[in-house]
Amino acid sequence: MTLYAHIVGWGKFAPAKVLTNDDLSQMVDTSDEWIQARTGIRERRIASEQETTASMSIAAAREALRVADADPAKVDLIIVGTVTPEHLFPSTACLVQDALGARQAAAFDLSAGCSGFVYALGIASHAIEAGAYEMALVIGAETLSRIVDWTDRRTCVLFGDGAGAVVLRASKHPGGVLSSILGADGSGGELLMLPGGGSRFPSTPESVLNGMHHLHMDGRRVYRFATKIMVRATRQALEQANLSLQDLSLLIPHQANQRIIESAARGLKLEDGKVFINLDRYGNTSSASIPMALCEAVESGHVKRDDTLVLVGFGAGLTWAAATVRWSVPLPVATPPRWRVAVRWARYRWAAIRRRALSALWWLIERLFPPKPDRKG
Ligand code: COA
Repeated sequence: MTLYAHIVGWGKFAPAKVLTNDDLSQMVDTSDEWIQARTGIRERRIASEQETTASMSIAAAREALRVADADPAKVDLIIVGTVTPEHLFPSTACLVQDALGARQAAAFDLSAGCSGFVYALGIASHAIEAGAYEMALVIGAETLSRIVDWTDRRTCVLFGDGAGAVVLRASKHPGGVLSSILGADGSGGELLMLPGGGSRFPSTPESVLNGMHHLHMDGRRVYRFATKIMVRATRQALEQANLSLQDLSLLIPHQANQRIIESAARGLKLEDGKVFINLDRYGNTSSASIPMALCEAVESGHVKRDDTLVLVGFGAGLTWAAATVRWSVPLPVATPPRWRVAVRWARYRWAAIRRRALSALWWLIERLFPPKPDRKG
């Protein structure tokens, strides 16, 4: 039996704190005029001290599960696309898995720069089509404000924080993720990188002083790469799905720069209204940008049942990814029965209680049965 991976739930989280271009012009030598003209960005969201990649992922995931009316205990796979994980390890996906009470889910992070979400969508949909999993949660989440150099005007004006998530479910009805193109060219790795904190340049006082824990970018070269690859990947994704540009209802591109998006739209000869843009309000949120844009496109009525969407991104690596999606959920979605909302709420509460109870138990065990002193020598 042929299986298809359908998007059945979607959710996003954006921190409440807004940082406008005028705010930035108080911090570095820039202006609202320059930022808007060169990027299209007007403002971005910045995570509070309490908000992290995991907390935003969890919020977006809960919303996606609510829309899908899905039981978190039945999720089989959780992938978080991110370049700003909660820690180097454990993965952010494992923290999400625990917080959702998704006890039977495999969980891992995926690092593919700003292509992370579409990479994860491609991997998860292949796993579903192969019959390995029935339900997957695919998340893109970033706290870029924590790695941006707030004294570097060439980069700090571009980025923002947020998270987006989708629930993918197996179905025998044709549709859902019809194709995915995943690509990489590691020779461009140094164009966009976070040099410090890994095995090459471990964290030291010098690495901190030398700014190695901040994002570094060659903006012009990334720009050139992006304009070409967006067009090529979009065409390839449609071809792989046996479709053409005439079949495309809406392009949802990575929200890096309005000029890049407009150049891609010109390259593809797309009419006005066929490209979704929300970067003016969020800036570049890396892996989160495409799922956040998808959510807003759905919520604002830009997506209808049976529409053909292409999600396309590029990013650090260098990487690129595009997916063709046949939208199969009728909109607006029905309100789930109250008892199912209550069951989900109970699962989240129980997951939190379980986590606290387990750490209290370990604390008690260590005190009741302290490790025996080493008798060597
Ligand atoms: N405010 C004011 N001036 C700025 C500025 C800022 N925030 N940032 C750079 N400038 C200056 C530069 O110093 C340069 O001045 P100079 O000519 O005196 O040296 C001038 O503006 C032009 O800089 P340039 O880098 O050529 O601008 P640009 O038109 O290429 O725009 C980017 C810069 C970063 C907006 C653009 O290259 C870009 O979007 N690149 C892709 C980045 C991206 O998408 N990264 C994420 C990938 S996932």
